[in-house]
Amino acid sequence: MAGPIPQAFIDELLSRIDIVDVISPRVTLKKSGANHMACCPFHNEKTPSFSVSQPKQFYYCFGCGEKGNAIGFLMTYENMHFVDAIETLAESIGLEVPRDEQASKMHSDNRPLYTLLESVNDFYQSALRDAPDAIAYLKARGLSGETAKKFGIGYAPDGWDGLSKAFPDNEEDLIKTGMLIRKDEKRSYPRFRHRVTFPIRDRRGRVIGFGGRVLDQQEPKYLNSPETPLFHKGSELYGLFEARKAIQDADMAIVVEGYMDVVALAEHQINNAVATLGTAANQQHSEILFKVVPNIVFCFDGDNAGRKAAWRALTNTLPCLQDGRDAHFLFLPDGEDPDSVVSKGGHAAFQDLLSARQSIIDFLYEHLASDIDMTSIGGKATLADKAKPLLETIPPSIYKQLATRKLETMIGLPMGSENLGAPAAPKRRAAQSHNDNLTAMSRAVLLALQHPAMVSQQNPEQMKIDGSIRGSSVLIKIIELCCVEPDITTARLLERFRESANYEFLSSLAVKPYWPDNRELDEQTAQTEFTHSLQQIQARGKKTDASKVDASARTGLLSIPKKS
Ligand code: UTP
Ligand code: MN
Repeated sequence: MAGPIPQAFIDELLSRIDIVDVISPRVTLKKSGANHMACCPFHNEKTPSFSVSQPKQFYYCFGCGEKGNAIGFLMTYENMHFVDAIETLAESIGLEVPRDEQASKMHSDNRPLYTLLESVNDFYQSALRDAPDAIAYLKARGLSGETAKKFGIGYAPDGWDGLSKAFPDNEEDLIKTGMLIRKDEKRSYPRFRHRVTFPIRDRRGRVIGFGGRVLDQQEPKYLNSPETPLFHKGSELYGLFEARKAIQDADMAIVVEGYMDVVALAEHQINNAVATLGTAANQQHSEILFKVVPNIVFCFDGDNAGRKAAWRALTNTLPCLQDGRDAHFLFLPDGEDPDSVVSKGGHAAFQDLLSARQSIIDFLYEHLASDIDMTSIGGKATLADKAKPLLETIPPSIYKQLATRKLETMIGLPMGSENLGAPAAPKRRAAQSHNDNLTAMSRAVLLALQHPAMVSQQNPEQMKIDGSIRGSSVLIKIIELCCVEPDITTARLLERFRESANYEFLSSLAVKPYWPDNRELDEQTAQTEFTHSLQQIQARGKKTDASKVDASARTGLLSIPKKS
């Protein structure tokens, strides 16, 4: 979270770096007019629609809509956390990230933990070389040395003192990272003993924990690191670091259930798989993957437990389905997992199953309809009733409209889909010339975000806005920021709103064309239009607030007739 890093430092950082320097080592940019252009790194395309504006310090893809400043770019492109992105940028220009005391303590405490786990991983990997039974086990499961190496697979020796002997000075940290379990005041013992080890890496490739599998039939079959300062299993995906590039190349991420599934698929040249760590796929998992690739395929056992887990993944993924994103489900034959499929039938067997994957919407309706008599009127109404709350979790999008259209076809009844996903109807007709689905307030914010320099040149008297006008607080704050610092950039302005509920909306205003025909807006015109919007806002502020009527007129997304 942004908390511990002072906002002033982030602002300073953004004013010292150049977004072009941040992006150009990662994406080949070509100068074109005021912008730098490239084929978008976030979706597949042949003609460049990814543009980087140096004056605004902001990027935007006209194709897929990805946008942001240098921090956002690193977060999306490198899949970094906010704090990591800040650190990376600061490092690139030789700045030290200041922290408040507690945070800096946490921060400096964690570095040795990462280093230690890296060393433990080395220790396990070299122990594997001296463990013929573990090597034999991995071979019997069809793993090559190459794949074992790629995933850093190792072996935690049997016995009680291996780790303490190898790391005599690190007992506290080994306990903190879950590698040792404290027995009493004096003694501790290793969590993983006589197990094959799978290092779990974070998005930057740092080892944050381990999974360990027994070599025989003992229980529990797998042990995982506990929750530690480095490891939170609900927000990590096993294999993501290793799979990242393959996921982008394949334009698809496959989510499986087990460590061995990821590894066995990779053994058979399917390198774009990741696994949840013994937990159901949650919304965070889907969001993490959608930041890397627009297509997720969830792979589950065909049995009851698998279907149940799949349903949880479905409900957790629906809220992430913005336009351009899609999810599918793949159910394996009963008793099989991806590992057993490729072990028996190789690459082709899994590819065949993969090509028969079911779309998330088909799965949704199929699952809901499975215990409904769809030939009866009551059955159709029940389906609509059950589907409605789920469809409402999909963000407004074409995707949502299509999903609803599909339900309409199934029940043979329109569901008021003209309301679905479309933005609320314009409250009033604005002047034809400018973007007529924006309110005066949004237009003013758009103009200020895109042309911050002209704001400070306005007459301050004309920029006085009544703070009680709905939605005026953002505009007031932007105007203040622009006046205090006339050379502030779009990127720096937006950064101030990262934690705000308006952030997405403001980001979209920052890249929205002002004119419907995409004409460029010059500085002079921006100023005139800005003045004009402010006048409209002020004039409207004086009238009684009639807009409340609109809110009550907006009904739910779906209006389904209860019975027919
Ligand atoms: P499975 O029981 O499906 O095992 O657990 P698997 O992946 O097929 O394992 P192999 O093929 O027998 O080696 C799936 C995942 O659930 C978690 C692990 O993350 C595992 O990869 N799990 C399973 C545990 O955490 N503990 C267990 O005891 C079992
Ligand atoms: Mn298995």
